[in-house]
Amino acid sequence: MQGRHDGTRAILAILVLCSAFLGAAQAEPSVETIARGRALTDAADCATCHTADPAKPFAGGKRIGTPFGGVYSANLTPDRDTGLGAWSDEDFVRAFRYGIAPDGSRYFPAFPYPHFTKLIRPDILAIRAYLDTLPPVRNTPPPPQLRWPLNYRVLMRVWNFAFFRPGIFEPDQNKSVEWNRGGYLVEGAAHCGACHTPRNFFGAEKRGRMFGGGPVDGWFAPRLDGAERSGLKSWSADDIAEYLQSGRNGHSHASGPMADVVLNSTSRMSDADVRAIAIYLKDLPPGTPEPAVALAPAQLAEGEKLYKAACVACHEADGSGAPRIYPPLPGNANLQSANPNSTLRIILDGAQTITTPRAPNKGSMPAYAKQWSDQQIADVTNYIRNSWGNAAALVTPAQVAKARRD
Ligand code: HEC
Ligand code: HEC
Ligand code: HEC
Repeated sequence: MQGRHDGTRAILAILVLCSAFLGAAQAEPSVETIARGRALTDAADCATCHTADPAKPFAGGKRIGTPFGGVYSANLTPDRDTGLGAWSDEDFVRAFRYGIAPDGSRYFPAFPYPHFTKLIRPDILAIRAYLDTLPPVRNTPPPPQLRWPLNYRVLMRVWNFAFFRPGIFEPDQNKSVEWNRGGYLVEGAAHCGACHTPRNFFGAEKRGRMFGGGPVDGWFAPRLDGAERSGLKSWSADDIAEYLQSGRNGHSHASGPMADVVLNSTSRMSDADVRAIAIYLKDLPPGTPEPAVALAPAQLAEGEKLYKAACVACHEADGSGAPRIYPPLPGNANLQSANPNSTLRIILDGAQTITTPRAPNKGSMPAYAKQWSDQQIADVTNYIRNSWGNAAALVTPAQVAKARRD
């Protein structure tokens, strides 16, 4: 009897060991999964929001501005006490899919979970698998600094009920595989609408105005729909792909927050993914165009003098510039946006052209904030927004004064 017992025990022990080994083998993600997770982490630009100190990537603590105050990003490294080390996979999926923390509290949508909810479960877990490979860093981010009453997380329950629809991106069987991949990236991981869609009073993206353009950090993220003049009607899919990969094309250059998106996210995507995004954007509906405007020639006279004195050296008298070196101004969609903030930022602060492996040459645009008055900046802006066939609403000195403060 004793002998048989021992035999059974031995077999049991072997079975336990085997299942533990198999379990461990299953829990250990493959090299491919980690690589896919890394690519999705780039596409979602997690690093830009979750890195405050470049020496501690993903350790969180960066202040993310919202119209209601600041929220600090979390520590995503596998540190057990201050990062995600003690989280289960279910905790991680729940945060992404539902915006709910392990203790049941709700996240603020400064964490773009209204987009990340579109990701399929294996992709969410691939991101987790990649984050698990980072070196653990101890860092506790500061608590949010939101104005009353939004400082109460419990209010996010109401917000979620009113504005948040959890659920994965539903593929459209009538569209190509490429289109669906583009939609999955644009609507989900890459969360393009977080900046390019206008928000309502409560900070939720307006469903009826998807990709209609939105303000961000003193800039304006232009419309991505197919609208004439201020939308992407005149851009081909190749133009969009070139802009996302190299930060510039024959129409425009990426500056401000979009320069970060290009550097940290889109320039690192595979050619196929960038192409898929371009195909998806080109298929967006045109959207309602901006109301027609026509400024009187007298309103442009002062601006023309300033332009001829200060800007022609690079942008040429006819605005044609030198594509990919000095962006052309005629037909420029960003320039003709109803909201002039990106144009004002560039004229006030100047800009350094970003460099990417595909477009390594540098360039710079001088700043005019110090030497010119609000009136002069408004005049030159009105001139370039309304010459060479361009048309856009009048910009006032008060708007310039406000842009200076931002
Ligand atoms: C636009 C900025 C932004 C981006 C992009 C972003 N996050 Fe965050 N994330 C935040 C902020 C802000 C918080 C804190 C939210 C809060 O306190 O309610 C947060 C919170 C989180 C949390 C909750 C952590 C905790 O300790 O409770 C996780 C998990 C997370 N982010 C993962 C990611 C991952 C992974 C990515 C990329 C796929 C990502 N985030 C991209 C801003 C961002
Ligand atoms: C953090 C905010 C932010 C995110 C996220 C973002 N953008 Fe942008 N985007 C901007 C801003 C701001 C500009 C204007 C840049 C400028 O003035 O040079 C811009 C400009 C653009 C332009 C040029 C439009 C024109 O008319 O000149 C394209 C195309 C574009 N973005 C596509 C995308 C795509 C595709 C995504 C998602 C992969 C994305 N953006 C994500 C903020 C953002
Ligand atoms: C020394 C050359 C130079 C001069 C002078 C100059 N610019 Fe620029 N400008 C540039 C460069 C380079 C860029 C691209 C910056 C970037 O890549 O972010 C640019 C970008 C712009 C843009 C943004 C266009 C886009 O689609 O990205 C506008 C608008 C603009 N300039 C207007 C002006 C005006 C108005 C003046 C005169 C007040 C002026 N520039 C003077 C070099 C110049």
